[in-house]
Amino acid sequence: MRLVSVVVPLASSIATVAAKCVSAGCHALNEPLGDAVFSRGTPVYNYESKNFWSNTEIMSPGCVFRPQSSSQLAEGLKALVGANAEFAVRGGGHMGIRGSNNINGGVLVVMSNLTTMALNEDKSILSVGPAYRWSDVYAFLAQSDLTAAGGRLGPVGVPGLLLAGGINFYGNQVGFGADTVINYEVVLADGSIIEANKTSNPDLFWALKGGSSNFGLVTRFDLQTIKSSKVWAGTYTVTARYVDRFLDAAAKYASDIYDPKSHIVPAVVPGNSTLASVILFYNSDTESYPEIFKPFTDIPTISNTLGFKTVADFAAETGEMVVEGINDVFVAGTVKGTTYKELHQGISIINSTFFSQLPKLYKQIPAANISTIQLDWQPIGADWMKASETAGGNALGLDSSKVYLCYAEVVEWIGSAYDHIVAEWIEETTYAINNATQKAGLYDTFNYMGDSAGFQSIFPGYGEKNHQKLISIAQKYDPHGIFQKLMPGGFKVY
Ligand SMILES: Cc1cc2nc3c(=O)[nH]c(=O)nc-3n(C[C@H](O)[C@H](O)[C@H](O)COP(=O)(O)OP(=O)(O)OC[C@H]3O[C@@H](n4cnc5c(N)ncnc54)[C@H](O)[C@@H]3O)c2cc1C
Ligand SMILES: *[C@@H]1O[C@H](CO)[C@@H](O)[C@H](O)[C@H]1NC(C)=O
Ligand SMILES: *[C@@H]1O[C@H](CO)[C@@H](O)[C@H](O)[C@H]1NC(C)=O
Ligand SMILES: *[C@@H]1O[C@H](CO)[C@@H](O)[C@H](O)[C@H]1NC(C)=O
Ligand SMILES: *[C@@H]1O[C@H](CO)[C@@H](O)[C@H](O)[C@H]1NC(C)=O
Ligand SMILES: *[C@@H]1O[C@H](CO)[C@@H](O)[C@H](O)[C@H]1NC(C)=O
Ligand SMILES: *[C@@H]1O[C@H](CO)[C@@H](O)[C@H](O)[C@H]1NC(C)=O
Repeated sequence: MRLVSVVVPLASSIATVAAKCVSAGCHALNEPLGDAVFSRGTPVYNYESKNFWSNTEIMSPGCVFRPQSSSQLAEGLKALVGANAEFAVRGGGHMGIRGSNNINGGVLVVMSNLTTMALNEDKSILSVGPAYRWSDVYAFLAQSDLTAAGGRLGPVGVPGLLLAGGINFYGNQVGFGADTVINYEVVLADGSIIEANKTSNPDLFWALKGGSSNFGLVTRFDLQTIKSSKVWAGTYTVTARYVDRFLDAAAKYASDIYDPKSHIVPAVVPGNSTLASVILFYNSDTESYPEIFKPFTDIPTISNTLGFKTVADFAAETGEMVVEGINDVFVAGTVKGTTYKELHQGISIINSTFFSQLPKLYKQIPAANISTIQLDWQPIGADWMKASETAGGNALGLDSSKVYLCYAEVVEWIGSAYDHIVAEWIEETTYAINNATQKAGLYDTFNYMGDSAGFQSIFPGYGEKNHQKLISIAQKYDPHGIFQKLMPGGFKVY
């Protein structure tokens, strides 16, 4: 922040400087929109400025702007641009990267009051505002025996997930969550409110499917609903002695995803007693233990929650894994292959490199201050990518002749004193993993945005052509680069 020296009587000069410190943006907003602007010390400020997934995201914004409508957001955005004032935007607050959705001194724009939630007449389309978490969406839709292609853990936010892509239980049938969006309402940098869909602003429609916050602020997503009364799903956990068999099962599944009703999230969880645990999801209200899961479900289990349940209940169950009020980081990476042998080798290199780095972390952080360490894999195969193509495509640039195994490292800890230790460790570990998979010819530059850490880059991994296209679309809809310059947080196309 720059302090401007002004030639005015002393007392008022100090007042001006103090106001600037709180933020020129807060001042500019206060004039027309005072009712929606909350300064430090107010209950709304205290609530909203702490409403983030990870402690590492908490900062000290000058004020909170909580618009009640898209037109109020548009008016606010115009005021911020007019004042050349920096701001951050927070949806569900689950991007665990400091400064991606928050700001020191500037304006924190929160989506909490953009609460559209309505089905169209034939219930095929849900209009949903960016205020919501997926648990809210699933609970609403369950009343009509419906669901949607969203987050697998209930607490995750709707907007950030859909703007990143959206890995979901139904991926092998519908593609990414973003592929199910048929229309976006967007506030542009000039304050206009437009719709982006297949026929109206189709370039922006494509760009929003993976391009994040580079083009405008989305105030409504219209997405296809999915008929669903119950599904067969749960978490299936085995002990350390079966880890190799478990990882075999993961590679086998990834190399031949022959049943598109299935979805898995296999993970190893190191600790005093290392465990391996897989989320199994099957889109059927009658069939349990399908053939495709046998390589997992034939392994003796120590804990198993499999059963018929609604997606709403299942996302609430998985959501219990989310521990509030601690410090967390996710890191992403990808290996690519076609055969069981390649995919198994990719999994094994990631697994072995990750475990070999762990002693360095344990040496620096007491066990009592480590909440969770986890390594998981997300297979994305041909059916998934073909469903994306059928829906009209997205910006992610994946090639359906290959299988992508996107891995995510998760570290959760107690005490900000350890933030920099974890940050250094994950960076070093990720480079070690990626150097090893690259040497084996299995590395891919794709990093899934939703799981990426702040040091990682996203858009080069979408391919040069898509990256360039995203840049030109950003420049077309936001010629002054407001969403890059005045909104510094998040992943930027340029
Ligand atoms: C526990 C957990 C589970 C997860 N599970 C999944 C999963 O199953 N599948 C998956 O794909 N991902 C998953 N993710 C990743 C998730 O998709 C991202 O964290 C995503 O950013 C969450 O969205 P949000 O609205 O909560 O994020 P925020 O942190 O609020 O926003 C993310 C980014 O989008 C911007 N933004 C937010 N709202 C808007 C808007 N309306 N218009 C324009 N820009 C906006 C923000 O400025 C920020 O840069 C998970 C994350 C966590 C922490
Ligand atoms: C705005 O959002 C907050 C937080 O979710 C909520 O408590 C409040 O009732 C909402 N206000 C309006 C007018 O919708
Ligand atoms: C696409 O946008 C146009 C123009 O705003 C709108 O009239 C139309 O209903 C939209 N289509 C969909 C599918 O929402
Ligand atoms: C994964 O790592 C664990 C811990 O080092 C090891 O016991 C196991 O054999 C590894 N499995 C594979 C397939 O790499
Ligand atoms: C692991 O074991 C050590 C030593 O027995 C103990 O201090 C620590 O709290 C344990 N950690 C967890 C996560 O249980
Ligand atoms: C370690 O965790 C404990 C709670 O388990 C906490 O009280 C303590 O402050 C943490 N240590 C540091 C250095 O943050
Ligand atoms: C390999 O490691 C170096 C640092 O050790 C890093 O700069 C480089 O990006 C890594 N390669 C990959 C593919 O991550």
